Amino acid sequence: MLFLELNQKNIFVAAGVLKAGGLAAFPTETVYGLGCDAFNSTALARVFEVKRRPRFDPLIVHISRLETLQRLADFGLLSPVERERVRVLSQSLWPGPLTLILPKKDAVPPLATGGLATVAVRFPAHDAALALIRKSTGAIAAPSANLFGSLSPTLAAHVRTQLGEAVDVILDGGKCGIGVESTVLDIRGTPRILRHGGTPRDKIETLIGSVGASGAGPGDSHVKEESVESPGQTASHYAPGTSLFLHAEGRLSALEAEADAAYLFFSRASAEGFAAADGENVFFLSESGSVREAAARLFETLHTIDSLHFARIHAEKVPAEGLGPAINDRLSRAQSCLRR
Ligand code: TXA
Ligand code: MG
Repeated sequence: MLFLELNQKNIFVAAGVLKAGGLAAFPTETVYGLGCDAFNSTALARVFEVKRRPRFDPLIVHISRLETLQRLADFGLLSPVERERVRVLSQSLWPGPLTLILPKKDAVPPLATGGLATVAVRFPAHDAALALIRKSTGAIAAPSANLFGSLSPTLAAHVRTQLGEAVDVILDGGKCGIGVESTVLDIRGTPRILRHGGTPRDKIETLIGSVGASGAGPGDSHVKEESVESPGQTASHYAPGTSLFLHAEGRLSALEAEADAAYLFFSRASAEGFAAADGENVFFLSESGSVREAAARLFETLHTIDSLHFARIHAEKVPAEGLGPAINDRLSRAQSCLRR
């Protein structure tokens, strides 16, 4: 891990790390973020691994130019009124501590959005953060740079203590000015604040009229990360349309192969002994048995299987190491959603 003071040269170094699919912790005006290229699924999986999140919660994608919104958000899914809200808010409050929830473009990897159909976008008001985003890939996914269940970091030293060698570079930009996370606002339908934060509600209401609230306060960020109310847990969350049956780790290969069912194995090795292991209805999250790769491919694989309209999906739990619990959580929710 490189622990670097903030200057032009080191921003360039960190940008190189991000472009190469690495992880860089960087300051913003709110808290430190743990960034990666928002379009790189393997790097996104590593972010969850490093934070030791037991779930794939949706991340915020950070941009440094308004035009980048076109790559992330599908404005065709918004009404004229909603589009106007985005225009007014982005022109008046960006750059700044406001995150907007927008319908996502297909190209945004599902791991960046926790499988949701929406993407969270923020344009931070921090010169170094903006330079880093601009010099790397222009769209950087970044949760707060803390371990799951811990408070958000407002100093580079907080990041080093919590994440240390697990990240590739930490840019030390001193203390974050605001110190609480951005306000998260869903602009669709009746606008709603999902998380109170750095942009006060009345500032938003002056621009777009009254907004509802249904979120925890910024001071509750550590509580919020553990809360079952997080968007990753709600019914709008992606679940396959095909019935999914989740089996214990290593038990899938003992099933009798049925032609109208899909079989989702963790690895090639775990399918050993399965009668139809080479069939077109057999899928592997990671051929080689890498939990990180399995995480990076999870949502896409479920989508693919779903689109093939099998009668049912049989999946197995993956080993409970690293991202394993987050993958298993997702698989068991894919199962329970169907039994509602
Ligand atoms: O100030 C901030 O926002 C910091 C800095 C680094 O920019 N980032 C941050 O990220 O706080 P994180 O991952 O710790 O919190 C993201 C919040 C979570 O409450 C998450 O549920 C919500 O944003 N969120 C992200 N995508 C969402 C979506 N598509 N729908 C609803 N909520 C979403
Ligand atoms: Mg956080």
